[in-house]
Amino acid sequence: MPDIPSDKAVLVTCGLPYANGKAHVGHLRTYIPADVYVRSLKKNSQEATFVCGSDTHGTPIVVNAEALGVSPKELVQKYHAHFDEVFRKMEVEFDAFGTTDDEVNHRRTLDIVDRLIGKGYVYPKVIEIAYCPQCDRFLPDRYVEGTCPHCGERARGDECDQGCGKHLEPGELRDPVCTICKGPAEYKQQEHFFFRLSEFSDFLLGYLEQLGGTLNARNYALGWVKQELSDWCITRNLEWGVRFPGHDDLVVYVWVDAPIGYIAFTEEWAQASGGDWEMFWKGDCPIVHFIGGDIIYHHCIFWPAMLKGADYSQPSAVVASGMLKIEDRTFSKSRGYVVWVEEDYLDHGFHPDLLRYYLVSYTSHTKEVNFSWKIFQDKINTELVGVLGNFLYRNLLFAFKNFGEIPGGDIDPGIMEKINSTIGEVVRANADYEFKKAADTAMALASYGNSYFQSNEPWKLIKEDKEACGRVIKNCLQLSRALVLLFEPITPGSMEKAWKQIGMDSDVHTATYEEATVPVVSGIKLEKPEILFTKLEDDKIEEMEKISSKRIKAAIAKEAGIKEVPKMEFKPEIEYDDFAKLDIRVGRVVTAERIKKSKKLLRLEVDIGDDSPRQVVAGLAEYYKPEEMVGKTVNVLVNLKPVKLCGVESQGMLLAADAGEQVSLLTTDEKISPGSCVR
Ligand code: 2FM
Ligand code: ZN
Repeated sequence: MPDIPSDKAVLVTCGLPYANGKAHVGHLRTYIPADVYVRSLKKNSQEATFVCGSDTHGTPIVVNAEALGVSPKELVQKYHAHFDEVFRKMEVEFDAFGTTDDEVNHRRTLDIVDRLIGKGYVYPKVIEIAYCPQCDRFLPDRYVEGTCPHCGERARGDECDQGCGKHLEPGELRDPVCTICKGPAEYKQQEHFFFRLSEFSDFLLGYLEQLGGTLNARNYALGWVKQELSDWCITRNLEWGVRFPGHDDLVVYVWVDAPIGYIAFTEEWAQASGGDWEMFWKGDCPIVHFIGGDIIYHHCIFWPAMLKGADYSQPSAVVASGMLKIEDRTFSKSRGYVVWVEEDYLDHGFHPDLLRYYLVSYTSHTKEVNFSWKIFQDKINTELVGVLGNFLYRNLLFAFKNFGEIPGGDIDPGIMEKINSTIGEVVRANADYEFKKAADTAMALASYGNSYFQSNEPWKLIKEDKEACGRVIKNCLQLSRALVLLFEPITPGSMEKAWKQIGMDSDVHTATYEEATVPVVSGIKLEKPEILFTKLEDDKIEEMEKISSKRIKAAIAKEAGIKEVPKMEFKPEIEYDDFAKLDIRVGRVVTAERIKKSKKLLRLEVDIGDDSPRQVVAGLAEYYKPEEMVGKTVNVLVNLKPVKLCGVESQGMLLAADAGEQVSLLTTDEKISPGSCVR
């Protein structure tokens, strides 16, 4: 039986990103398949709502905000806006994207905690809590580090992140050390509140047996439940978070209010759209959670128990993605094994659709992905460019050049049958969370299209029998129509363009698979098609590989405690006469402004002691604001042949020290009159 009945609305959620740092490709390993899944459900005429939001509480956020000297609220607002923007750019389209600090979530969390208290599932207990005598504070979670009691590795207060991966309860860590002052911490007794997770073992066994989603999630959770479950401490000594009722010095543990965010964001969606949130959380409409493979315990054990205890509906399926690695190392932003979505991908001009295709089609959803620019290039060039892009472009161009419109004739029933069976297979693969299989099946139809085109030789047929040629092309256009619909969930931006190219003026994002077998209409005018996917060149990929490997080498060196000493390379020796050819003068910046159309350039007027100031164009806009430049004493190479930069003539060059990410202008020790020689 499929996990998700087709006659009910479905709620799909994605694990909430911590609003504590930038989005990286590891995040997208979960969000993109989830977005593809939702778009595919909608294509299959199923009602689906897709919600997510930022996880804004918890000690890592407080620790980070403290280190940066900002409030937790400021920090999370900044990263919430960042994630929101990155998701939009990557075409991940949530129906609601809230934050766990939203009023709605505070209220919903209190409701659930109150219900759990009311039903006796929460009890107080005096426990040992790490306390730092120097900082005079209790040390929840990441404020304390020490030795894991299970495996003896170095661990954080709530998780053995470098060893056995176990969740740690307050007081379990041995030899605690305060992460703020690095001094030894001690254990002090304090009253905290516990959730009776142990009472839910039987419920969880039955629940997990029927839980849908991927097997890795269910089996991992079953393994835990078959062992003894311990109760969870659900309060922390923090100011930032959702207050624990009746105790002003405590907030709830972040893993309480974070998943409740799923409910709150559904409520936010309902408020904005007039929808009904209760049909999911109080009714029987299915809920599907997409999460990373590292948070299965929380979603398959703790969360359903909490929902059950508070009389809410539980998730129908948990879909856990395999982790993303880079050069065989688990992604870790703190350690530097990371590919950032904005600066390492989008800012280099890569189209979002390419990464979307790579991430869903590279391997099965539950397997690990070792991110590789080379494999990325290879998949894009051979499949998206060489198969799908090639088929769409060649038949559309042929149709445009030779007919200018969709030609007449009937669609071959064999082609319709092929389309129908492909759609059936794609729908089944998506329902099984086999996104690679769905992508491969759709790509196989494009391959079939190429063979069909090739074997029918329309370029010969057009000379011999234009009508027969028209029929072949019409069939190709029918295949194109189906392909655009099949690929819209994966490459939505490109398919929006392709839909127009096949003469459709409706919205491809709301069109359904059913439309794939509606015959294309003869006589519809066609425009000259554009190439949808272009080949990724070797030099571009080599540039990206260099960026990645430089970062990873630095991370490895940092971990090994080696301070990286770059090997210096110097230019060949010169004579003094060579140097003396340079006429360098002290100058003073009189005016400065940005050059429109350029992110990098500033136009400056610099007094170099001459009758009138010199116009100099400098690549400093990313490092200095124009107003910071005015009045600065600078060093200008004044006998450099003038050049035009962005259409503006530069009559000299400012000297600056360039450290790659940092650039610093060379100035003089004392203010000295413009025109003085620099030797
Ligand atoms: O592990 C994480 O990144 C968490 N921020 C995920 C929370 S998901 C949900 F339960 F809220
Ligand atoms: Zn351990």
